[in-house]
Amino acid sequence: MTTLSAVDGTSAADLEKLDGSAPRPSTPRELDASMPVVTMVGGGQLARMTHQAAIALGQSLRVLSAGADEPAAQVCRDVVIGSHTDLDALRRAAVGSNAFTFDHEHVPTEHLDILVAEGVNVAPPPEALIFAQDKLAMRRKLEQLGLPIPPYAEVTELGDVTRFADDHGWPVVVKAIRGGYDGRGVWMPADQWEAEKIVEEQLAKDVPLVVEVKVALRRELSAMVARSPFGQGAAWPVVETVQRDGQCAVVIAPAPDLSEDVSAEAENLALRLAGELGVVGAMAVELFETTTGEILINELAMRPHNSGHWGMDGARTSQFEQHLRAVLDYPLGDTSPLAPVTVMANVLGAPHAPTMSMDERVHHLFARMPDAKVHLYGKGERPARKIGHVNVLGDDVAVVREKAERAAHWLSHAEWTDGWDIHS
Ligand SMILES: Nc1ncnc2c1ncn2[C@@H]1O[C@H](COP(=O)(O)OP(=O)(O)OP(=O)(O)O)[C@@H](O)[C@H]1O
Ligand SMILES: [Mg+2]
Repeated sequence: MTTLSAVDGTSAADLEKLDGSAPRPSTPRELDASMPVVTMVGGGQLARMTHQAAIALGQSLRVLSAGADEPAAQVCRDVVIGSHTDLDALRRAAVGSNAFTFDHEHVPTEHLDILVAEGVNVAPPPEALIFAQDKLAMRRKLEQLGLPIPPYAEVTELGDVTRFADDHGWPVVVKAIRGGYDGRGVWMPADQWEAEKIVEEQLAKDVPLVVEVKVALRRELSAMVARSPFGQGAAWPVVETVQRDGQCAVVIAPAPDLSEDVSAEAENLALRLAGELGVVGAMAVELFETTTGEILINELAMRPHNSGHWGMDGARTSQFEQHLRAVLDYPLGDTSPLAPVTVMANVLGAPHAPTMSMDERVHHLFARMPDAKVHLYGKGERPARKIGHVNVLGDDVAVVREKAERAAHWLSHAEWTDGWDIHS
């Protein structure tokens, strides 16, 4: 049997039929015209996992993917190949779709405004999405709503960072206003000299910047919610996120030892914000818990988010299903956790990809940990690249966390952190 890419919407099964005088391949729409089509811009792992949820709901996600080998394009049958910055590609992906949504926030806002004017149901709408796209617009909006954020300033010239630090002290954090992800576009200069070097380089490349206080962190939290156009909102328990090199590595759900008051405050803040901004779909509110116990908002993501992956196995309704329900204005699902603790550990590419195949690594992991739930994204291994995640459920935070991290490290490095030898 020949393997076909999904580029033209033809599956291998369809190809077999085509060998004879069988019917032409059908689009998912023709299979059951009553089922909605959701378009997701971006062919990454978030779209891949949203497609998984779409299947259970009798749908088939359409993705706009940069290439046929992207994680979602590998598994969806309804794929439009093109760039998220190309208006024509966006239009092609939107034809006949009931909701048009995102696995990243990098689509130019002006393109989205055009799609809306042409009648596309963009979810979240551009006037909400802008606060996840533009870190300066987000800070101004949150300030206006009276919500807590770290002190910040816009940077338009070299002296702005030093002036800011004169008022607020060093160290500071410099951020690109648009386009950052996984810590790219975030700089933590050691001193004034380094700060000025970064600002000079970025401004020369026309990258608009903000500067803010480097917060003394106790830890980072994420409050995830979803909101439907009908106005229904649902919150998952607030989680703790652990970052390594500016990138999410581990998520503990719910956040250990978080007081009920703070947890309720964070959930309510996220639900309120989703309502005030008119968010449609899932939204993660990334939070800082300061060493003095204050909660500050770091940034917003209006899509499924790494801090919600635990819920694929650890919550009654995953963020991927909830996102689909929300953008289609279905009633939202129950967000209750299924265990006292769920820990998600990202499988981050090792500095040198192991010689042992991933297939063999999965085999050994399952032999050792039958309860570990593995999610792999079909991505090549590169240092620190997110190639999958592992969820482990249980009762004791320390035990569950150690197990999830050990499993994820094994999958990326083919190395047991407790020294266990597969041959002994
Ligand atoms: N003001 C700050 N003070 C202390 N640490 C910070 C600050 N801003 C960012 N960080 C650290 O850097 C990480 C990445 O920053 P941020 O979330 O703003 O960037 P991003 O690249 O857009 O993130 P994402 O990976 O969520 O897309 C944060 O999770 C946090 O660990
Ligand atoms: Mg972030």
